[in-house]
Amino acid sequence: MIGQNIAQAAALLKQGEVIAIPTETVYGLAGNALDERAVAKIFAIKQRPSFDPLIVHVPDLRHLENWVKDIPPLARKLAEQFMPGALTLLLEKKDQISDLVTAGSPLVAMRIPAHPLAQELLQSLPFPLAAPSANPFGYISPTRAEHVAHQLGAQIPYILDGGPCSIGLESTIVGFPEGRATVFRKGGISVEAIEALIGPVQVKAHSSSNPQAPGMLKSHYAPRVPLVLGNLLELIPVYEGKAVGVLSFREKFSEIPSERQFALSSSGDYTEAARNLFSAMRYLDRLPIDFILTELLPEEGLGRAINDRLRRAAAVE
Ligand code: TXA
Ligand code: MG
Repeated sequence: MIGQNIAQAAALLKQGEVIAIPTETVYGLAGNALDERAVAKIFAIKQRPSFDPLIVHVPDLRHLENWVKDIPPLARKLAEQFMPGALTLLLEKKDQISDLVTAGSPLVAMRIPAHPLAQELLQSLPFPLAAPSANPFGYISPTRAEHVAHQLGAQIPYILDGGPCSIGLESTIVGFPEGRATVFRKGGISVEAIEALIGPVQVKAHSSSNPQAPGMLKSHYAPRVPLVLGNLLELIPVYEGKAVGVLSFREKFSEIPSERQFALSSSGDYTEAARNLFSAMRYLDRLPIDFILTELLPEEGLGRAINDRLRRAAAVE
């Protein structure tokens, strides 16, 4: 069932159920982070391998402090600027956070979502929420309640509908190995915005071999229809005669039927492009086409996070 009833959502969570909740990044598949049975249900519904840990969501910094041993100064600076928001911090966990949530890691990923429904829900609960993105493992993250309903609707009792996600990309994950701020997943807060606050940071490339490094199986966010990355002006003639869709940054192309194209932002705005990305991929993925032709954005701001998702969606493993 889809609805906007926070009391009903809270009641289900208190009973140990798993439900979908909105955040401003993407929808999450949420359960009581302190209840191992609820956490196990999340892994089962998502068909997620148990070595891939979950993010823990709390309403504010005071609650965040309950679950971690320490907030180093750099982390605090980031938290004060970007929380609530699209930032996730990797911090040393306290014992109350189970190894099931962190996949055995001594670090827990903590996030404070800004979405008003998520805020209200978290404030009404006596426990934090563990939540991965509410998509089957390896598929595109959901940015609307309908996306969740379409794929997981039959397996969960409730989808809290908070409308379309305003950011549309998952949170940026930052950890502090050896005391150095390190971006492990590019996301809704740009690397530039982080560096403007705390100076240069390391950015870890995604890896297919070490899924413990957040994020980060390479082939991820993948649509069903193969995605081909390149220069669209060159690709389109090469695929002439084939059934293709086009996912572009700004332009549409006269050679391709308009309904088989999605331009992420005709004005070239990265924020708008990010908001549209996963909906666009889902839209094209449902068309009767054999390939989605797409292009990278300029490698700056949110363009970097968008390109990360496009590259992974195009990766074949
Ligand atoms: O925006 C978001 O972050 C959304 C919303 C729902 O909050 N959540 C999300 O969760 O994208 P998920 O599970 O799809 O991606 C979280 C990533 C995973 O790739 C996981 O490997 C990494 O965070 N992660 C979680 N806990 C970790 C930990 N303790 N250490 C290292 N990586 C961790
Ligand atoms: Mg995910």
